[in-house]
Amino acid sequence: MPNLMLPGLVDVHVHLREPGGTHKEDVASGTAAALSGGFVGILDMPNNTPPITDRQTLYQKLGIYRAKAVSDYGLFVGFDGEHVQATVEAAPLAVGLKLYLDETFGDLTTREPARLAEVFEAWPGPGPIAVHAESASMRVALQLAERYGQRLHVCHVSHPDDLFPIDAARQRGVTVTCEVTPHHLFLSDEAVERLGAYAHVKPALVPSELVDLFWQRLHLVDAVASDHAPHTRTEKGEMPRQSTPAALRQKQREPQDPAMGARREASPAPPGLPGLETTLPLFLRAVDEGRLTLERMLELLHDNPLRIYGLQAAADSAVEVDLGTPYRLPFEGYSTRCGWSPFVGQWALGHVVRVRLRGRPVYEDGRVLVAPGYGQPLGRSEQA
Ligand code: NCD
Ligand code: ZN
Repeated sequence: MPNLMLPGLVDVHVHLREPGGTHKEDVASGTAAALSGGFVGILDMPNNTPPITDRQTLYQKLGIYRAKAVSDYGLFVGFDGEHVQATVEAAPLAVGLKLYLDETFGDLTTREPARLAEVFEAWPGPGPIAVHAESASMRVALQLAERYGQRLHVCHVSHPDDLFPIDAARQRGVTVTCEVTPHHLFLSDEAVERLGAYAHVKPALVPSELVDLFWQRLHLVDAVASDHAPHTRTEKGEMPRQSTPAALRQKQREPQDPAMGARREASPAPPGLPGLETTLPLFLRAVDEGRLTLERMLELLHDNPLRIYGLQAAADSAVEVDLGTPYRLPFEGYSTRCGWSPFVGQWALGHVVRVRLRGRPVYEDGRVLVAPGYGQPLGRSEQA
């Protein structure tokens, strides 16, 4: 069978940890992981150390990307909850504004309605406002977007019922889009029992009935984004090597220790899962199973990610995939510095063999072929 040729994909939600967390990932390892997963462009979140909340910190982070990135990129600016003007001044350098209305890893949560209203009113674009906002706070974000006429993007929708108010707002003329993560589509809260801290993520994984509803309502979803958020094995604690679905079925037959669940819930490990290298093979398997069409997959991983952020596809770029036969995702052997995957043991299809970016081969058989700094900021499209 000839290899499958795809356009270079774009992941609109990643955390590459530089500056401040390079023991987890850095721009070199993270953009290499992007290429090996078939992504030629990534959008990086602002919850770094220090957080990216003004022109100076954003400019410094852009400098790191300019020196080290091997994929294309766009960077978000955040809001420190206080200095609206500092955020606004960084807008021309940013791909969008990221606001955290709920608690997560990092220190950028803003709940105070007056502050939120101020920043929604002041944001000048051209990028949209992207929010981490689950259920109740998502409704607040929708209201603010409507009141101030802002383009809103809801990151990692946390519950399939949240898709309805998004759709209703869209019907009322609010410009709102949303993304769902692969871990909300391919893992359920069963994984928390099986993998412990390695399935601890914000928003939390949901029961399998809700995973089914995400799939049934996929027509209401604009994009799939990994929320690639690596933490080291040391930070996450010991991962059971036998963490495949087969091992779980075995474990379910064994008597349960009722204290286990409670201990895991209280897990002090930081939330977040790597995902750049597993999205495409998981989705190709889903396409193979007839759960969605290849065309729809490309809307979710290419067309809409670019449209939402008003970005141009990089010219002369392509991903070549050797489909082969279905396989189980491995325990190790990833390019991401954290080196593990919560999807270990899941069925997948296809290996990225070659990636072309702006006319040059940039990746082949596990190797990056270009020098650090080949990556460029994703260009804005005309209409944005
Ligand atoms: C993210 C991280 O580790 O940066 N963690 C997560 O559980 N998703 C934070 C985030 O996505 O907001
Ligand atoms: Zn995130």
